[in-house]
Parts: sequence; structure tokens; C-alpha cells
Amino acid sequence: MTEKKTNSPRHIAVIMDGNGRWAVQRGLSRLEGHRAGLKAVQDTARHLNHLGLEYATFYAFSTENWTRPPTEVKGLFKLLGESIDNEKRALHEDNIRIKWLGQEDRLASRLIKDIREAEEYTRNNTGMTLCLALNYGGRQEIVNAARALVTDGIKTKDINEKQLESRLYTSGIPDVDLLIRTAGEQRLSNFLLWQCAYAEFYFTPILWPDFNRAEMDKALHAYASRQRRFGGL
Ligand code: IPE
Ligand code: IPE
Ligand code: MG
Repeated sequence: MTEKKTNSPRHIAVIMDGNGRWAVQRGLSRLEGHRAGLKAVQDTARHLNHLGLEYATFYAFSTENWTRPPTEVKGLFKLLGESIDNEKRALHEDNIRIKWLGQEDRLASRLIKDIREAEEYTRNNTGMTLCLALNYGGRQEIVNAARALVTDGIKTKDINEKQLESRLYTSGIPDVDLLIRTAGEQRLSNFLLWQCAYAEFYFTPILWPDFNRAEMDKALHAYASRQRRFGGL
């Protein structure tokens, strides 16, 4: 019997979708939607930390999002950079540790510096780890890990799940227990492909900027009623 208690997830991952639609519905620019979306991250991240969650991962920018119009990409990175810089002290006071999942490729050096500084600033905190998936692609992550196995000279016979896992961005972080996606879409969009192998999925039509503590509680409640079997009986 491998049935596991499901009521308290260790790792929640969120595909924050619907910022654009939220803005358009209000006659605002898409960037205003992203701005409102960042507020929802602050609110829900604090809530999860207070609930005692160990790991929360938020999908902020995918490797595929580079195909968006340059003005949106530029504006989004500006907002993200400002938000990381402004929020790191408050997150630190809440004992939250910040961790970046993604690649440096194509990002402005200033943004890379801001993220690395936020990681450094909060590294010794013992509360929730807040992972920011930014310039993140699940396939890219696995390819990078495969490359690292070769670079590290790991012999074919020694390659196993543990060896590969330890070379992912999420090394040392448990698999995703609960994956939340907002705005009615029901797909992974290249997010945490390896780590979601046995995740429970929760989809809601709520647009990300409207997602709040109460919506998070609904997702947690749904999760608590799931029965996880991990292939067993
Ligand atoms: C999610 O909102 C945020 C990012 C992908 C950066 P969208 O920008 O995808 O919003 P919609 O899907 O167009 O409504
Ligand atoms: C996924 O949302 C990426 C992020 C939330 C950062 P998208 O809006 O980019 O996903 P698709 O294109 O609808 O699959
Ligand atoms: Mg979208």
C-alpha cells in the first residue's frame, strides 16, 4: 500500500495565466494586467508562507514567451525587475527564501544581477522557498541536465534519475505536489515537466490577477480531497 496522505503539499507550482485577458476586459494595456498579476503573486506567496508551505514556484516567463511582441517582453521584464528589487526586503522580513529557476540566456545583465542579489539576500532564510521560473523552459532544463551529466564525466551505467535530477534547476527541491493553472487553460506549457510527473492538477477559470488567498484555499481544499496513488493501489 503506497497511498500517501495528500492534505499537506510540500511544493505548489502555479502557471499564472490570464493577465492579458484581465487587462483587455478592463480596457487596460496588457502590461497593466502583468502589474496586477504581480500583486497577486505577493499576496498568495505570503499566504502560503504563513500556512507553512515549504516550496512555491511561480511561472513568470517561459522560454516561449520570447515570441511575444518586443514591447510586451520589455515591459514585463521591467516590471519583474522592479518587483524583485522592491519586494526582496519585505520577503526577507517574512523569512522567505528566493530562488531563480531558468537560464540567463538573452536576459539583461541588470535583471540577472537583481535576481542573484535577491537570492543572496534571502539565502539563509528558513521559511518558504519562493521559486521564480523566469526564462524557464522544461525541455531546456532537461537538456541542460543531460549536458551536465556529460560534462561531469558521469558514466552511462551510473546515469539514473537521481543523477539527472541533481542537475535540474530544482535540485534538492521536492517534486510538485499541486499544480495550479488559472484562466481556464488546461496545459503545461513546458513547465516543470520532470517535476510534475505525479502532480495533482487544479484548473480554475479565474484570471490570475483575480486569484487571491480565498482562491488558493479552494485549491488547497480540492487537493486535500485527492487520493494519490503513485502507481500503487
Ligand atoms: C500570463 O498571462 C503571464 C505571462 C505569460 C507572462 P498572459 O499574458 O499569458 O495572459 P493571457 O493568456 O494573454 O490572458
Ligand atoms: C504560460 O502561459 C507561461 C507563463 C505563465 C509564464 P502562456 O500564456 O505563455 O501559455 P500558452 O501560450 O497559452 O500555452
Ligand atoms: Mg496566457
